Amino acid sequence: MKRKGNSCLIAVAMGVVFLVMVVFYGTISPQPSAAAPNTDYRLLGKPLYKLDISWPKYTEHFTGEVFGVAVNQVAGLVYVAQRGENVPKVLVFSMDGDFLQTWNTSTLEMPHGIFLSNASSNPTVWITDVGNGPFGHTIKQYSPSGKLLQVLGTAGEAGSSVSPLQFDQPAEIFVHSSGDIYIVDGDGGLNNRLIKLSKDLQVQWMHGEKGAGLGQFYIPHSVTVDSYQRVWVADRGNKRIQVFNSLTGDWLGSWGSCFSEDAPYSVRLTPDQKYFVVVQLNTNQISLLEAPPVGVIGQCRVASVIQLAEDIKPHLVDLDLKTGALYVAEIGAQQAQKFTPFTLGGGFL
Ligand SMILES: *[C@@H]1O[C@H](CO)[C@@H](O)[C@H](O)[C@H]1NC(C)=O
Ligand SMILES: *[C@@H]1O[C@H](CO)[C@@H](O)[C@H](O)[C@H]1NC(C)=O
Repeated sequence: MKRKGNSCLIAVAMGVVFLVMVVFYGTISPQPSAAAPNTDYRLLGKPLYKLDISWPKYTEHFTGEVFGVAVNQVAGLVYVAQRGENVPKVLVFSMDGDFLQTWNTSTLEMPHGIFLSNASSNPTVWITDVGNGPFGHTIKQYSPSGKLLQVLGTAGEAGSSVSPLQFDQPAEIFVHSSGDIYIVDGDGGLNNRLIKLSKDLQVQWMHGEKGAGLGQFYIPHSVTVDSYQRVWVADRGNKRIQVFNSLTGDWLGSWGSCFSEDAPYSVRLTPDQKYFVVVQLNTNQISLLEAPPVGVIGQCRVASVIQLAEDIKPHLVDLDLKTGALYVAEIGAQQAQKFTPFTLGGGFL
């Protein structure tokens, strides 16, 4: 009797799961072939963003693994970094999705993180290079058209020194409007550190120990600074986000409860500073987490999730700080996509 009751329950449960799947997936077309853009997704929680399928206009420019995106909200440009043999490493698009140019640079081996600084007066593009060749293990600053301006680190030599500065697969860089530079180093090499440099490249403070303790890291992957002098780091290998005081480097807190299933890969903020945008590569999710008030770190809370289809593998994101539009680099689908905020209820416009 008991067994029969259980199988009845299981049948009912399966029916419910099936219904839920129909409701969620019912309006979504079947998975397209690998070459076509993969535009499947569904929204969970508060609907904050929707896919803009008109961006970019032609997806055939994506010829490699798309690793990172950076937005210049003033010039209206989106830089997409991709990896692979004999592929242009940087593609430049307009916000309307027109393809504008590629960078024909031979100075970039394997881009990882990409960041646009000083959009309003003198924009430049910073790219971390995790390549093993003569230009690798560095962070490079380029003009908007791809002219190499500056190299941080010791090209071609992985290392842990701070004088001279060395990196091992530096994952991402954030350049504050003050000129201060924050670097997470790295993406699985010797180093597990967060470094703050002054504008003239002097080390201000550093957290450099590998481990799972407070202020230690395991594959620090993405970094951003909010408007309240707090540095947020996606500590990927430890499945948590750690928070530091940007002036002193003091540890302020840690968020882990949102990431039990999959690690945070990116950390960025919406322009109104209300939400963090965190992607989780293995679960194919872009999550919007509520940003805590000043003086509080507390526990993380997920407000909304953009659930992408399997194997899309979102890696890093960036936002248009004027409109709140969100661009995501997807390694699995080998494409970048644009999501725009809902104007009603989203609160960005
Ligand atoms: C890059 O190279 C291609 C092919 O040689 C050329 O058509 C294009 O104009 C070049 N772009 C830049 C920005 O130099
Ligand atoms: C931004 O560009 C202006 C003009 O070149 C320059 O004076 C300023 O120092 C730059 N700011 C940063 C943070 O690099």
